[in-house]
Amino acid sequence: MMKIREIDMSNEKVFAAVAIVAGVMMAGGPAVADGDAEQGRKAFRQCAACHSIEKGAHRTGPSLANIWGRKAGTIDGFRRYSKALKGAGVVWDDKTLDQWLANPKSLIPGNRMVFSGMADGAERQDLIAFLKGISDGGAETAGGMQGGMMGQRLPNLKELGPNNQVKSVTHCADTYDVTTQNGETHQFWELNLRLKTDSSENGPPKGAPVLIPGGMRGDRANLVFSSPEEISAIIKEQCKNE
Ligand code: HEC
Repeated sequence: MMKIREIDMSNEKVFAAVAIVAGVMMAGGPAVADGDAEQGRKAFRQCAACHSIEKGAHRTGPSLANIWGRKAGTIDGFRRYSKALKGAGVVWDDKTLDQWLANPKSLIPGNRMVFSGMADGAERQDLIAFLKGISDGGAETAGGMQGGMMGQRLPNLKELGPNNQVKSVTHCADTYDVTTQNGETHQFWELNLRLKTDSSENGPPKGAPVLIPGGMRGDRANLVFSSPEEISAIIKEQCKNE
């Protein structure tokens, strides 16, 4: 009898202790601190096409390396903020990020982020925990893992080989002839060849554009120059074999 009682007693004590600890934890911080940052890292895949978590590496949207606690629209070096976001007067914290991720349009009407929202509240909390974690100086490690884990690091166009390095480009009527350093000439209908610039440190060398296949069927490609003035300097208007 005594023995059983003792066991009962200790169980009660354990339950009481657990209840107290849980109570303290819940009282100690906002409920939103519950997110799981590791899960959040996975949820970030929905953002990674437009945002990096590497400081200074902007894409369609600004780098989110230090978003936590910042005033909206103030990340250094991002030049494409909407007036709406810059003038919103919002500071990014648990509450505002939750509202933004649930429905960007309703928090800041007229913003330019093309994202319809994340309906799952738990997923939002995980993502917020992740963003908070990398903003506390964890961005370096997170950025380092990004290439391997998320596969989102952009290729360095200076490292491409002779199949992609362009020797010459001619334009005749509706056709571009692009000759690469390996001696091959590729022909494109002019509306299927996209002329782009990449002036970042990952862009092609000066005066040496690169050809990157685009699309599934192989009839489209991107011709990437290091600056806009190179486009007409390098492409020669010339008809061969006529
Ligand atoms: C299609 C591209 C795109 C996707 C996907 C996207 N964003 Fe954005 N995001 C943007 C753009 C562009 C802006 C700037 C909007 C503006 O200036 O109105 C922005 C702005 C933001 C801002 C405010 C930045 C600041 O400096 O105030 C946060 C925070 C943000 N995005 C988080 C996210 C998260 C988290 C996800 C994933 C759930 C996500 N975004 C998905 C393009 C995107």
